[in-house]
Amino acid sequence: MLIGVPKEIFPSENRVALIPAGIQTLLNAGFEVVVQSGAGDKAHFGDDEYRNCGASIAPDAASLYGQVDIVLKIRQPLEQELPLLKEGTTLICMLDAWFNQPLVKQLAERKVRSFALEFIPRTTRAQSMDVLSSMGAISGYRSVLAGAMALPQYFPMLMTAAGTIHPARVFIIGAGVAGLMAISTARRLGAVVEAYDTRAEVREQVESLGAKFVEFDLPQEQGGATGGYATQKSEEFYKAQREQMTAKVSQADLVITTAAIPGKQSPRLITKEMLHFMKKGSVIVDLAAERGGNVEGTVAGEKVYLDGVTIIGYTDHHSRVPVHASQLLTKNISTFLLNMSKDGQLNVNMEDDIVAATLVTEDGEIKHAGLKALIEKE
Ligand code: NAI
Repeated sequence: MLIGVPKEIFPSENRVALIPAGIQTLLNAGFEVVVQSGAGDKAHFGDDEYRNCGASIAPDAASLYGQVDIVLKIRQPLEQELPLLKEGTTLICMLDAWFNQPLVKQLAERKVRSFALEFIPRTTRAQSMDVLSSMGAISGYRSVLAGAMALPQYFPMLMTAAGTIHPARVFIIGAGVAGLMAISTARRLGAVVEAYDTRAEVREQVESLGAKFVEFDLPQEQGGATGGYATQKSEEFYKAQREQMTAKVSQADLVITTAAIPGKQSPRLITKEMLHFMKKGSVIVDLAAERGGNVEGTVAGEKVYLDGVTIIGYTDHHSRVPVHASQLLTKNISTFLLNMSKDGQLNVNMEDDIVAATLVTEDGEIKHAGLKALIEKE
């Protein structure tokens, strides 16, 4: 079967789904690979490198989509890409399916077999395919760098002839993949770090990275976490959390918010009122900006200044590290593909929990039960 890697056209997307070093593994598995000319340019991988590693080059998107059996992509197809996908093509990408229901319907109508990489379960077997963890780690790292650059002060403690500089205080809300990486990065830069998560089980991980785990006295609610992800809490819970968190937020120089609930808008953790209690010149990096943000006042994709506080709402931290982001995605996506293939052919086995969790459309139907129910309801 022929695998195609198109050039990403999503705004500010610099990553590519397959780097040259990943081609040999797919050739060894019996596939052939064609890459759209320029697909790797923004991640600094040229056409010649792809050619030297055994891929052929298609001059444009139309010729690529026209010849391939399998498309490996990062972002969901945009309007201009959709007509290029021919019937029977297998599409593997981050569909962002909960928030792109019209696209899911169109993929079914076009008889495309699509897999959503964001649905890969958080299990040991699927760890090497987990694109969200790979990208979460990069954005956690990058959030600290962005925050440090915007902060009008030093990060580490310094004893100088001109006096002592106190270390920056960093407060991280949400100690999942991004939050833990943010903790270790901020610690390496010399900050004093505190972190909080609704999943109390992460305390040990937080402490092992040298940060203090903060506890609040919050209402006990059912359903702490499913499969490594947090579940949604009541508005009463979030209100109590905001009230108790105000003191911590007001002491911090840099706050990083990473609270995410899969398939839902991000919980509101910092209000405009709370900004008023923060130090002038302090910075918030809101990693949940794409889903409405954890912070009132966040603008997705922008850096804004509100009531003396800089709020960074970039949604492309991973894309700003395109070399390593593409390297990790290559491993994740190839492993996912190889898990459901044999001798260069696809072998889609619905008894495999990873395949069953990620298949979205096939043979003109929506196969993902949750999405199907949601789309039919509308
Ligand atoms: P994750 O699911 O591993 O971590 C999120 C953490 O937030 C979980 O530990 C969860 O328990 C916690 N959480 C949920 N509600 C909370 C609350 N009310 N208070 C405190 N903690 C709470 O997710 P991951 O991989 O760490 O990603 C974090 C965020 O970063 C997500 O919103 C993701 O979409 C975003 N992201 C942003 C990027 C960007 O460029 N801005 C790039 C990649 C990811």
